[in-house]
Amino acid sequence: MQEPGPTHVPAPAHEDADPAVDDESTATRRDAGTTESARANRGWWDRNADEYQVEHGTFLGDDRFVWGPEGLDEVEAELLGPAEELVGKDVLEIGAGAAQCSRWLAGQGARPVALDLSHRQLQHSLRIDEGRVPLVQADAGALPFLDGSFDLACSAYGALPFVADPARVLREVRRVLRPGGRFVFSVTHPVRWAFPDEPGPEGLTVTASYFDRTPYVEQDDEGRAVYVEHHRTLGDRVRDVVTSGLRLVDVVEPEWPAWNTQEWGGWSPLRGNLIPGTAIFVCERD
Ligand SMILES: C[S@@+](CC[C@H](N)C(=O)[O-])C[C@H]1O[C@@H](n2cnc3c(N)ncnc32)[C@H](O)[C@@H]1O
Repeated sequence: MQEPGPTHVPAPAHEDADPAVDDESTATRRDAGTTESARANRGWWDRNADEYQVEHGTFLGDDRFVWGPEGLDEVEAELLGPAEELVGKDVLEIGAGAAQCSRWLAGQGARPVALDLSHRQLQHSLRIDEGRVPLVQADAGALPFLDGSFDLACSAYGALPFVADPARVLREVRRVLRPGGRFVFSVTHPVRWAFPDEPGPEGLTVTASYFDRTPYVEQDDEGRAVYVEHHRTLGDRVRDVVTSGLRLVDVVEPEWPAWNTQEWGGWSPLRGNLIPGTAIFVCERD
């Protein structure tokens, strides 16, 4: 791990991504605010969307709803409720990527809208379904919808791991949900931040403090962030939900299933059988 780089002055969030910036990036832990994180992650996902969809598209499926690398499927989990109750529901998917989950929701008779920061990720949705799922390019921290527009919201590793101010996203989700609405989101399990992000045995030894919230930042040789992830402890995540005004109903920690022999970055059968990799928060708006 590198030492933190020079202090970075964030560029405007609308600035176009530079396709060359992460060729020489180095990883570090340092502060990264809302604007810098959004700018870096928009650029990273635009540059890496094609490779990401090639690498993970088969596992994700074009119209499957998977909550994370363990492969927990909404068909069995029913965290958004029984499938038959999804008919006619307005659903917002946040950080939708290629909108695989939205496509599954549409197949159940729901009316999904897929939102993502990355234009290139959303283009993969168009490639798959030629525009069947409505798409919105926006930041999860400023949802471009009227109050009470949705019955349900969901996010499978979308936005929440990447934003500097997750409570702001949760307040926005609460605002656009109707009373009685539900929001379910998955993130990297907080305990994983104490271990190296490696699928093998080296990923089983604690090397960092679980309590160190300093963001993981990949930066170019001028200290500009080109990718950012934000760590929250389990308690932080619970607090974010509660202070946003949502009610926490459940925290699901999917166990690694025997059928899944596939590695996904630092997620592997070896580690998955020993430590949790994903945390799924089920929240409701009263
Ligand atoms: C790991 S992907 C998850 C997408 C999909 N569920 C999947 O499994 O492929 C994370 C997505 O979050 C999006 N994202 C990151 N930060 C965001 C933000 N602030 N607002 C909206 N989307 C964001 C990225 O562009 C990316 O498409």
